Amino acid sequence: MNFVSLIETKRDGGRLTSDQIHWLISEYAADRIPDYQMSSMLMAVFKEGLDPDELSAWTDAMLHSGDILDFSHIAAPKIDKHSTGGVGDKVSIPLAPIVTACGIAVPMMSGRGLGHTGGTLDKLETIPGFRTELDPSEFSSILETHGMVLAGQSETLVPADRRIYALRDVSGTVPSIPLISSSIMSKKLAEGLDGLVLDVKVGSGAFMKDLERARELAKTMVEIGRNHGTTVTALITDMSQPLGREVGNASEIRESVEMIQGGGPPDLVELVYRIGSEMLVLGGVAADLDDGRARMASVVTSGAAFDKFKDVVSAQGGDVAVLNDPSLLASASRLHVIEANRSGVIIEADALGIGVGAMRLGAGRETKDDAIDPGVGTTVHVNIGDEVAPGAILATLRYNDDTNLADAIALTEGAFVVAEGPARIPPLVYEEVR
Ligand code: URA
Repeated sequence: MNFVSLIETKRDGGRLTSDQIHWLISEYAADRIPDYQMSSMLMAVFKEGLDPDELSAWTDAMLHSGDILDFSHIAAPKIDKHSTGGVGDKVSIPLAPIVTACGIAVPMMSGRGLGHTGGTLDKLETIPGFRTELDPSEFSSILETHGMVLAGQSETLVPADRRIYALRDVSGTVPSIPLISSSIMSKKLAEGLDGLVLDVKVGSGAFMKDLERARELAKTMVEIGRNHGTTVTALITDMSQPLGREVGNASEIRESVEMIQGGGPPDLVELVYRIGSEMLVLGGVAADLDDGRARMASVVTSGAAFDKFKDVVSAQGGDVAVLNDPSLLASASRLHVIEANRSGVIIEADALGIGVGAMRLGAGRETKDDAIDPGVGTTVHVNIGDEVAPGAILATLRYNDDTNLADAIALTEGAFVVAEGPARIPPLVYEEVR
């Protein structure tokens, strides 16, 4: 086959056959196609899209580029959750131990943050000693013993996505529905799951900025799951303002521990319960969503969820002392407070501005090789719809290095709009797609 003619076919709006797609993905994964040709193909896909048969072949080719895990020896239903990424989105951290304590198995493979979106692995690694790189046998044995494991994607799982995602990131081809859906679903299908709940974020801090695109992404992923025999439920949830109060890494672990112990901000708590009850219903552990919520509340109240979290952290080498006393987690040495300069109602607390501001403080990476500072970040004290008086604290920036402080302050200040109101308060969950 000739790669240039495949690029030309796609560029001109033509269709690629399943054989052509399998060939191009496997050749690129094997390093026999240069990045400049593959990025041209990705741009053609970005512009022209993939029809359902092409998308199915593309996902299948990615899925079979590496190992497919098999946890059929574990009796509990294997259910995972995946978010398309956002600001302050620490849902996976309290969610996994709570639903595991209710009786499902959660083989969770997470990612790192890039740009303004945070990553579960970076947050977990602020727990001293915690290892997120596990080989497949250790991953499987922790899952078998504890019913849950929190790790990064192994080298051998969907290696084609590892290469293609890195190329998309530097070629302007990330926000494409076929490329996002095949990337996420190939990894999730390779986990050998019985069911999956997707949290598709919409709003300024998400890849999908409007509801129509988010709905299309959700439907596409649910359909891919159906075609591969895995039940997928997608919730479209708000990312126009950050989730919870904390945006950072160690601070998001603190907020997660608070939630696992029965506290935490109402939006985070509600989303964890909503996604978790969907997972319990998918796994057949709860009769309906209300039953799921009741089961989750009971393991939070009894302390079983917190014990589960500590067991898994310990099994993965982490120091549970910081969970018993979260003040021991990394923190920042300096603070800058942002105040309201008038009275009124918060009509915007823009997730993108707050997320990029926190990244400039060192909470995120601008490039893949940047190191993050675990203790820095932003605490958001208000939500859209809150009334404020002049001088009310809107956000606190926590930092160690003031190189980019002015920029972070400007971004965060610019994220808040205080006006007469009334505010349009976004729903936490817009809709569900099954
Ligand atoms: N997350 C992924 O794993 N892939 C994408 O393309 C976007 C978000």
